[in-house]
Amino acid sequence: MDEEHSLNLSVPILRALLDLLPGTLHVKDRAHRYCIVNRNYLERWGARADEVIGRTSVEVFGDLFGVDADRRNDEVFASGKALPFYEVTYPDTRGGSIVLWATKVPIHDENGAVTHVLTFSLDVTPLKRMQQQLDESEQLRSAIVEHSLECFITADEDGRIVAFNSAAEQVFGYSRAEALGKPIGEVLHTTERRRATGRNAVRQRTRALLERSGERFETLGARADGKIIPIEISLVEIPLHDRRLFTACVRDLSEQQRAQAELERQRQELYQSERLSVLGTLAAGISHELRNPLSVVVSHAKLLEAELAADRPQPRVGAIVRAAERCAAIVSAFLDQSRSGPRRVEQFDLAQIIHSALDLTAHVLREQNVALNIDHVQTGLTVQGNPHQLSQVVLNLVLNAIAAMQEGASPRELAIANQLNESGDAVELTVGDTGPGIAPELRERIFDRFFTTKPAGAGTGLGLAICRDIVSAHGGSISADQSPQGGALFRVRLPVSDRKQQAETGATMNAS
Ligand SMILES: Nc1ncnc2c1ncn2[C@@H]1O[C@H](COP(=O)(O)OP(=O)(O)O)[C@@H](O)[C@H]1O
Ligand SMILES: [Mg+2]
Repeated sequence: MDEEHSLNLSVPILRALLDLLPGTLHVKDRAHRYCIVNRNYLERWGARADEVIGRTSVEVFGDLFGVDADRRNDEVFASGKALPFYEVTYPDTRGGSIVLWATKVPIHDENGAVTHVLTFSLDVTPLKRMQQQLDESEQLRSAIVEHSLECFITADEDGRIVAFNSAAEQVFGYSRAEALGKPIGEVLHTTERRRATGRNAVRQRTRALLERSGERFETLGARADGKIIPIEISLVEIPLHDRRLFTACVRDLSEQQRAQAELERQRQELYQSERLSVLGTLAAGISHELRNPLSVVVSHAKLLEAELAADRPQPRVGAIVRAAERCAAIVSAFLDQSRSGPRRVEQFDLAQIIHSALDLTAHVLREQNVALNIDHVQTGLTVQGNPHQLSQVVLNLVLNAIAAMQEGASPRELAIANQLNESGDAVELTVGDTGPGIAPELRERIFDRFFTTKPAGAGTGLGLAICRDIVSAHGGSISADQSPQGGALFRVRLPVSDRKQQAETGATMNAS
């Protein structure tokens, strides 16, 4: 051994080495007195070497280090074994705290007895603070992602799902455990085309999807139950230092598209009813124009009939008179119907209203091969209200019945009846058909505004809603039931008009 070189580790060199250490170091004897301290130690705790050496930490620093510091030294003296790195927190001179990683090593004399304990510590406070900030920002991030209303789905470079938040669970119907590890192309698509299945298709889709990172686009998603839903994706790539992640922020567009479709449907309905109202106004104008020439035809045909009848009966002229009279009846029923006029309240016979509605629909009934049963329509049941509005109710019910029977096989029968109820305070009008009827669960909903089962353009879903409005305004009620033949049976109940008052009105009319 080279004596000269081994002696090179002289005290000044050792001193210098100790001072170079990146942590604090001290050596204490059995009585807890400092024997050696390095420069870092003195700087860290703000003391000079001559104040420290030969004294205990309590003497120098008071209770700064607490009782545990000396207790750990005693442990090492007793066991003769080193203490591996442990974490310890001391108050800072500036009122904060310092976190240290420390280790203790026994120093033995030549007999193997422990004479001193060396303590080495590293200040990990900045590290700790960083860790804490990282933890906090991670907590914040996961709270935001977890409680977000939007779906967050993260995939690794291979497209395997590595994060799936609870909004995604709800929208896609997979639990997080089920979703993790799946290729992202299994839940998100990049094309609007029909969904291809199979491992290859999924792999291709996954690749195509990841290539669109940085984009925001609308596409389709596949739920766990196989349902395809419209979605909007904003895809970002997150480059980490050793790998890349892709996060898709996904919004379910189903509700939005439903709302849009509903809006579009309502707009179409508005166009349709606008068109009907224009046509209605035109038709009313035409009817009005027809009325005068028709009355000329009727009166002259009657005169002709009377003149000719003197010689011999003329059946042909009679046919002209009846046809012309029928035309006039249709025209005036139509005008009655279309005239919005003042909302006058009148007393009128319910039968009159039924006949006026049938006048207007006679040709449809004929065309559709519908037999009419009005055996139980009786005259003399008087109600009070607006006859135009109430005949609109009957008209709607009749048109709905005809429409319902259009699909089904013959025989088709429309049965209209009216009667006084048992207690005599209400009249009941029924319209029954031999159509498919109305499912019990729909019998209330059909009265909702815009409820229709007819294709767009054919129905507005307003007819029955308007009927209910009108009947309610008259103090009555309307309901749907099943007819004895299995079709629909609509029942309108109206309070019977005051008979006494009716009698009086009759009397004054006769007197005048
Ligand atoms: N007589 C009937 N038989 C079967 N279903 C009917 C009948 N009348 C009405 N309905 C149902 O009620 C719905 C609403 O009727 P309505 O309010 O008149 O609107 P619309 O006739 O425009 O559809 C219809 O679409 C149809 O499904
Ligand atoms: Mg209708």
